[in-house]
Amino acid sequence: MCGIVGYIGNQQAQPILLDGLKRLEYRGYDSAGIAVLRDGKISVRKCAGRIDQLRKLTDEKPLGGTVGIGHTRWATHGEPTDLNAHPHTDVKGDIAIVHNGIIENHVALRRHLEGQGCVFISQTDTEVAAHLIHTLYRGDMMAALRETIRTLSGSYALAVLNENEPDVLYCVRLGSPLVVGIGQGEMFLASDIPAILPHTRDVLILEDREIAVLRRDGVRVFDDLGNEKTPAPLHVSWDAAAAEKGGFAHFMLKEIYEQPEAVAKTLSAYVGADGFQPMLPGAPDRVEFIACGTAYHAGMAGAEYFAHLAGTESTAHIASEYRYRILFPRENQVVVAISQSGETADTLAALRKAREMGAHTAALTNTLGSTLDRTVEKSLLTYAGPEIAVASTKAYITQVETLLLMAMDLGLRNGSLTSDRVQALLSGLRELPEKMEAILQNRDFLQQYCDRHLHERLMFFIGRGMDYSLAMEAALKLKEISYLPCEAYAAGELKHGAIALISDDTPVIAICTQEALLEKTLSNLRETKARGAETICVCPQRFAQQASREADIVWPVPDADEMLLPLLVMLPMQLLAYSMAVAQGRDVDKPRNLAKSVTVE
Ligand code: M6R
Repeated sequence: MCGIVGYIGNQQAQPILLDGLKRLEYRGYDSAGIAVLRDGKISVRKCAGRIDQLRKLTDEKPLGGTVGIGHTRWATHGEPTDLNAHPHTDVKGDIAIVHNGIIENHVALRRHLEGQGCVFISQTDTEVAAHLIHTLYRGDMMAALRETIRTLSGSYALAVLNENEPDVLYCVRLGSPLVVGIGQGEMFLASDIPAILPHTRDVLILEDREIAVLRRDGVRVFDDLGNEKTPAPLHVSWDAAAAEKGGFAHFMLKEIYEQPEAVAKTLSAYVGADGFQPMLPGAPDRVEFIACGTAYHAGMAGAEYFAHLAGTESTAHIASEYRYRILFPRENQVVVAISQSGETADTLAALRKAREMGAHTAALTNTLGSTLDRTVEKSLLTYAGPEIAVASTKAYITQVETLLLMAMDLGLRNGSLTSDRVQALLSGLRELPEKMEAILQNRDFLQQYCDRHLHERLMFFIGRGMDYSLAMEAALKLKEISYLPCEAYAAGELKHGAIALISDDTPVIAICTQEALLEKTLSNLRETKARGAETICVCPQRFAQQASREADIVWPVPDADEMLLPLLVMLPMQLLAYSMAVAQGRDVDKPRNLAKSVTVE
């Protein structure tokens, strides 16, 4: 949530900041602003609305200067207004800051600072930090920031400009990501790597309670006691083009079309000529997944894989629930946190809880160097490349794929799977990208469907077992980008209440990938048809004939092993959500009220 950028160098800061903010707009997009330091004077431009609005403002009143900070906001404290937009300054305007996260003790601090004469003009928690730093500054910025860390509670990433130190850019983090991009004679700062990719791929990932001091010729990092540290830079393999639209109308569509390649890359990262790369260590007798949103749905699929392929007890938990649940630890258990960003606050908190109860921990993330990646015993990456659209597609597919590989690896080691079965699955996986391409090449029928069903009142997705997890994901995709009300239901559960909602304006889509459950799910579909619903079945080609006896419409995908079908059937579901959102005229990549990375509870 919210994006931060910063620059210090010899180029004009404004265009670099605006470009960086545009690349981070997916993190939050209700207001934006920049502050630039020139001749010892800070000037601010900020407004409600998106980066394009800010651009208009800076076109009218440009800011010259080679040191600056910028912010794109997802409001938590105070509405998205010009005044609440960042940067915020102290009373005199000689300190300007941008902030990601939430300052939990802002009410008490505000009262205290007002008592000292500070006048607040916004409703934000961030303004508190600006006034605080100003009151703590007595000619030594490092001391002021160390004291700030001691005073603030909550989570934050702060970038700070000080008129008294015109050739320095300061930043500090606790619980919110910040990366420093290392250039030649210039330094960059961002909350997320894509913002600085056009300038450099050498980055320093800041740790909690670290203060970084950026000057044109280098960066120095200190802990909160003032000790200097020497963190090693990381070289990022993503290139700038990977975070651009590349001719597609939306990032989401581009990312859907990148899935065949992402699946192939992830497979080759984990399976070489001599078999599996090390995946989950040991042989756990219970595996728990913790995650949010789409990543939780991947975890649900993972739990199915571990049960089917490794004979291992496995459950997926919503991280925000898990963190407050009474847990029953078991000695030989692993808790795997799944998160595309690796920065989701609830997932990180659930992971802390798992660690406290003594579980072994592992991570599945798309973001090298993220907090999650760095805090577990074993971190596994997905090789989806940067995912910019708020709606997750390729990250989800590669999460499901990696979970499948993890279950296969464990199943092979614990004797649940024969090597012949593993080889058959691996050759099926190698054929998958081609089958995915075939699905992606034929999406006109979805457009026609969406044009007809634009004004539905409600839509249902149903399935059993693995297919229930897929139905949940299909419904979430549709909800978040088209805003169409929809429900995902375990097919057999419909008749216990929700079937009352079914009528002739509630289409029902059944996902059927498992032969053993096909007849059962089709009979549930039949029950909805009898109540007037238009029924659709998404299934492999080999079920199509049987499905067409019950469903009004069949959307077949190419045949594949049952365990691989989740990776195929989700493609038409993603395309359905996309087409529906486009037909409704929605802002596909930046749906209302959402942000890509949810770093607050
Ligand atoms: O970065 P994470 O994978 O931890 O994010 C978790 C959810 O916030 C995320 O999957 C969300 O549900 C997406 N908007 C779904 O498309």
